[in-house]
Amino acid sequence: MIACEVIPATKSAEKIAAKVAEEVGLTVARSYAESSASVALVVDTHDVWLQPLEKPRPGRVMVDFSSPDMLHRRKSGHNEPLGRAVGVKADRKPRVFDATAGLGRDAFVLADLGCEVELSEASPVLYFLLQHARKTALMSASEKVIQAAKRMTISRGNSTHRSLTGFNTVYLDPMFPDRSKSAAVKKDLAAVQSLLGSQSGSQEVPTSDSTDHAVALLNWALSQPVERVVVKRPIKSPYLGGVKPSHAIMGKVVRFDVLVRPVNQ
Ligand SMILES: C[S@@+](CC[C@H](N)C(=O)[O-])C[C@H]1O[C@@H](n2cnc3c(N)ncnc32)[C@H](O)[C@@H]1O
Repeated sequence: MIACEVIPATKSAEKIAAKVAEEVGLTVARSYAESSASVALVVDTHDVWLQPLEKPRPGRVMVDFSSPDMLHRRKSGHNEPLGRAVGVKADRKPRVFDATAGLGRDAFVLADLGCEVELSEASPVLYFLLQHARKTALMSASEKVIQAAKRMTISRGNSTHRSLTGFNTVYLDPMFPDRSKSAAVKKDLAAVQSLLGSQSGSQEVPTSDSTDHAVALLNWALSQPVERVVVKRPIKSPYLGGVKPSHAIMGKVVRFDVLVRPVNQ
C-alpha cells in the first residue's frame, strides 16, 4: 500500500495538484476511490490538507495558524510552559530553531509569543503544508497572526545536517506518543504518522518515531552553539537518551526538559 498520494479536490484543481505532486515527489490519484494510499494530500485551488483514507473516514487535517484550535491555545495560557522552557521573558524573546517542525503548532505558539523561529521539517509534504499555512497566515484578518507568521521561516531537510549560527534555543519534539486528551490532536498526529510511514524509507525523511533517531537529534542539538536545548516529552516518560536535564517545566500532559548550555560554547 502506498502511504500518500496527491488528490485534486475538484476538476479545476487537477493542474495544480499535478504541480504539487511533482514538488513533493508523490503520485497523483484522481479520487479517493482510485487511491490505495492510507493518507491523501488533497489539493484545491486555494487550499491544501491531509485526508486520512481509512474508513470511517476521519476529518481533514489542515495546517491553519488562524484555526479555532490555535486561537484556543493562544488564549488558554497553556503556551506558558513552552514559552518558559525556551527562555521567553517579558524583555527577552529567544531565537528558536525548531528542529522537528511537524504541523508547526508549537513553532507558531513561540512566534506568537514574540520569538523568531526557524521551522525545519524533513517531510516534503509537511514542508509544503507549512509553507502554505504561513502564506495564508500572512493574509490573515488578525494583525497578531500576521506578525507571528512574519517571525517564522521554514526550511526543508534533515535538521541534523545543519550547523546552526545565531540561535539561542533548539527545540525538539521528535516523538509521537499518544499524549493528548484531545480527539482532534490524536487524529492529526495519526495522519502525520501515516504520512511519515510512507517516507521513512527515504534518506531525507528519518523515521521520527524511533528512539534512536530522537537520541541522534538530541546529540546533534547538544553539539550546536546554543544556550539551551528543550525536549518535549510525555509527562511521565524517562529522559531522552538518559540525559538528565538542568530542569523541567511541567505542562498538563507534557513535560519540557530544559538542558542549559554554557553560553560561550
Ligand atoms: C511530533 S512531530 C512535531 C510536532 C510539532 N511540534 C507541532 O507542534 O506540530 C515531529 C516532526 O519532526 C520531523 N522530524 C523528525 N526528525 C527530523 C529531522 N531530523 N529533521 C527534520 N525534521 C524531523 C518529523 O517529520 C515530524 O514531522
